Amino acid sequence: MNYNKKSVEDIDVKGKRVLCRCDFNVPTKEGKITSDKRIVAALPTIRYLMEHGARVILCSHMGKPKGEWKSELSLKIVADRLSELLGKPVIMAADVVGEDAKAKAAALKDGEVMLLENVRFEKGETKNDPELSKKLAELADVFVNDAFGTAHRAHSSTAGVADYLPAVCGYLIAKEVGIMGKALADPERPFVAILGGAKVSDKLNVINNLLEKVDTLIIGGGMAYTFLAAKGYSVGKSLLDTEKIDYCKDMMRKAEEKGVKLLLPVDTVVAAEFPNPIDGPIEVRTVAADAIGDDVEGLDIGEKTRQLFGDAVKNAKTVVWNGPMGVFENPTLAAGTIAVAQALADSDAVTIVGGGDSAAACEQLGFADKITHISTGGGASLEFLEGLELPGIACLQDK
Ligand code: 3PG
Repeated sequence: MNYNKKSVEDIDVKGKRVLCRCDFNVPTKEGKITSDKRIVAALPTIRYLMEHGARVILCSHMGKPKGEWKSELSLKIVADRLSELLGKPVIMAADVVGEDAKAKAAALKDGEVMLLENVRFEKGETKNDPELSKKLAELADVFVNDAFGTAHRAHSSTAGVADYLPAVCGYLIAKEVGIMGKALADPERPFVAILGGAKVSDKLNVINNLLEKVDTLIIGGGMAYTFLAAKGYSVGKSLLDTEKIDYCKDMMRKAEEKGVKLLLPVDTVVAAEFPNPIDGPIEVRTVAADAIGDDVEGLDIGEKTRQLFGDAVKNAKTVVWNGPMGVFENPTLAAGTIAVAQALADSDAVTIVGGGDSAAACEQLGFADKITHISTGGGASLEFLEGLELPGIACLQDK
C-alpha cells in the first residue's frame, strides 16, 4: 500500500472550510476525560490549520452509540478540553450535519474552530452511507483525515467523505505511518517484535506478517501458551486456543525456514485460579514452561523469560511491541509487562509501542517519554502491523 499521501502542507487552506476527522474517542469516567492523549495528539494539525487561516470543522466519534443520541457520549467535554489546550474558544455544534452544524460551519471565520457532535449519533456513519458522506462534505471545501486510531474503519467520516472532497492527511497520520511504515519496510536491524495479549486468534495475521520482516519474534502473554502447547508442553489451566495449535506449529516452521529467532517463555508465573477481582490478592509461584501442572494457570512470564526477552531487546536496533506479557492489571502479575516496558525504555533502538494495553502500561509506568513512538491506534495499529490497507488512509490523495 502507498502511504506517501498528500498532507495539509500540500494544499492551500486559507479561507477554506476544512473538515478535519480526529480520533477523540477518549476514555471517560463519570463524565470526565481520564486521558486526553488523543486530543493532545491532534493539536499540531488543528493549530496548523488555524494558524494558516482555515475555518476548521472538527469531527470524531466517541464510543459506540449505534446511531442513537446518547448524551453521555456527547463530544461537548472534548470541545471544553480542546479549548483549554488551544487557549481559544471551540464552537460546539448541537448536531452532526443538521441545521445547527450547517449554520455554525457557514458562519465560521478564518482561523476559527468548531466541533461537530459525535458522528456515530448518525445511523449512516458506521455503514459508510453515501448520503451522510455527502452531507458531511457539503459542510466543507477540503477533507483532512488525522484520525489514525480510526483509520481501519471504512466509515462516512473516515473514508466515505473523501469521495466528495479533496482529501489529505494531518500530522498525526503522517507521523504514525512514517514511523511504523519505516519500521516495517526498511527497519534498522536487528528488528525485534514482541507480541503479547490474550488470544493467538487476535494476532494471526500480525504473527504471519511480522515473520516476513523481523529478525526475532518474541511471544509472551496469554497467547504464548498455545505456542507452548504446539511444542508439546502441557499448559494446565492456562489460556489455550486449541483450534490454533496447528497454526502455531506452522508459524514455528515458518520462523525456522526464514531464519527468524522465535522466543517463547522458558518459565511462567502460575496460580491456582485467575485473580478475582482482577487486581485482588493472589498466591503465585514460578515454574519452568515445560513443567506447568494440570491444576494451575500461567498468568505472567517468569524471571528467566524476562531476562531472555530483555536481552533480545538490548541487542535490537528496532523494536515493535504490542500486547501485555501477563495480567498486568494485577500488581503481582505485572512484572513481565513492566520488564518489557523497562527494556524498551532503556534501549537505544527505535522503539514503537502499538497502542492499546501496552501503550497504557508504558504511560502508567511513566516510561512514555522514553519510547520513540507510542501509537494512538489500538485496532488501527494492529491492522497496520498486519500489513493491511487502512481505508482512512487509502482514500487520501497520493503525493
Ligand atoms: C479506538 O479506540 O480503537 C478507535 O477510536 C476506534 O474505535 P472503534 O473500535 O469503536 O471503531
